[in-house]
Amino acid sequence: MAEKLLEIRKLTAGFLTENGVVKATDRISLSIGKGQTVCLVGESGSGKSVTSLAIMRLIDYAGGMIMEGNITFRGQDLTTKKQEEMRHIRGNQVAMIFQDPMSALNPVFTVGEQIAESLRLHQNKNADEAWSMAVDLLKLVGIPAPEIRAKQYPHELSGGMCQRVVIAIALACNPEMLIADEPTTALDVTVQAQILDLLRKLQAELGMSILLITHDMGVAAEMADRVAVMYAGAIVEEGPVEDIFNQPSHPYTVGLLQSIPGFEGERGGELYTIQGTIPPIGQLPSGCRFHPRCPHATEVCRQKEPPEFMIGADHRASCWLYEDKPVHIGDDHSSREEVKPAW
Ligand SMILES: Nc1ncnc2c1ncn2[C@@H]1O[C@H](COP(=O)(O)OP(=O)(O)OP(=O)(O)O)[C@@H](O)[C@H]1O
Ligand code: SF4
Ligand SMILES: [Mg+2]
Repeated sequence: MAEKLLEIRKLTAGFLTENGVVKATDRISLSIGKGQTVCLVGESGSGKSVTSLAIMRLIDYAGGMIMEGNITFRGQDLTTKKQEEMRHIRGNQVAMIFQDPMSALNPVFTVGEQIAESLRLHQNKNADEAWSMAVDLLKLVGIPAPEIRAKQYPHELSGGMCQRVVIAIALACNPEMLIADEPTTALDVTVQAQILDLLRKLQAELGMSILLITHDMGVAAEMADRVAVMYAGAIVEEGPVEDIFNQPSHPYTVGLLQSIPGFEGERGGELYTIQGTIPPIGQLPSGCRFHPRCPHATEVCRQKEPPEFMIGADHRASCWLYEDKPVHIGDDHSSREEVKPAW
């Protein structure tokens, strides 16, 4: 595995509500190596955005808090940093792209001014240097005629171009890690593919690590080195992208894959949907959090929360199906066949 840049250990983050403290992430662990793309996938409400806000410590401003665990970035624990120190990290080492490009841009400034502002603030550039670097960044993210576009306002640009500007602002701090929360959801399919291509190209050129949040397994298949599947606040399966797609092990992951049009597990030509809905925050069922929706649930699932079991050398899943079939680190592909349940 690539050298670790970010390591999240047993992170619980949540909110204080009328019903007391509720956990939006529940002891999640996840690592991102240098230059790697890790995709965090899961249905709406599973806790993906809360995870990203916790890493950036923006959760403090969203009425939430980190309750337990560590987030180690380049050897420093972000959970204990003061906001002033976090501002420096957010401006210089970790950047974030939010889902809706229009809301991330200020309508009253030109896009060039907005990129230049970031360069002035975080890289101490003077006005002229910042402007010329802003134009260069617009070029880097594939905006034609960047000198002209730099002088335009967000409403004069298409959604796809605005998302490119948002990416340029994120790159202005020359980040080692980019967190992209559903960066293409608001865009149409052709533009989506272009933005994903751009992220791949930038990653290859700049060597960044990317945490890409998406509810789309197709995007994960295309972009990820590793995939973490999140359900109701927990990472229920995590592993290399090939393992997740060739040997999906948690019934929730299998359900997500069967819901993709054209996936080989698709049943009878009809698009599969996982029955039931994700439980609301703070109302987890007993035992396995997925048991009310799981076609394989047994009594133990209803009573006891499953721990993580190793499915392969670098592939884990939290599911009782693997209890009596431990696979030890170093097991090869053929022995993994034995633990795969017959779906
Ligand atoms: N400020 C908040 N106060 C209380 N609960 C919140 C707050 N923000 C998020 N939540 C809850 O935390 C849970 C996880 O939310 P989160 O936004 O992380 O989901 P998500 O996986 O990003 O979903 P989506 O795919 O819709 O973006 C949800 O139940 C949500 O309602
Ligand atoms: S532990 Fe049981 S209920 Fe949970 S996913 Fe596995 S089989 Fe299904
Ligand atoms: Mg979200």
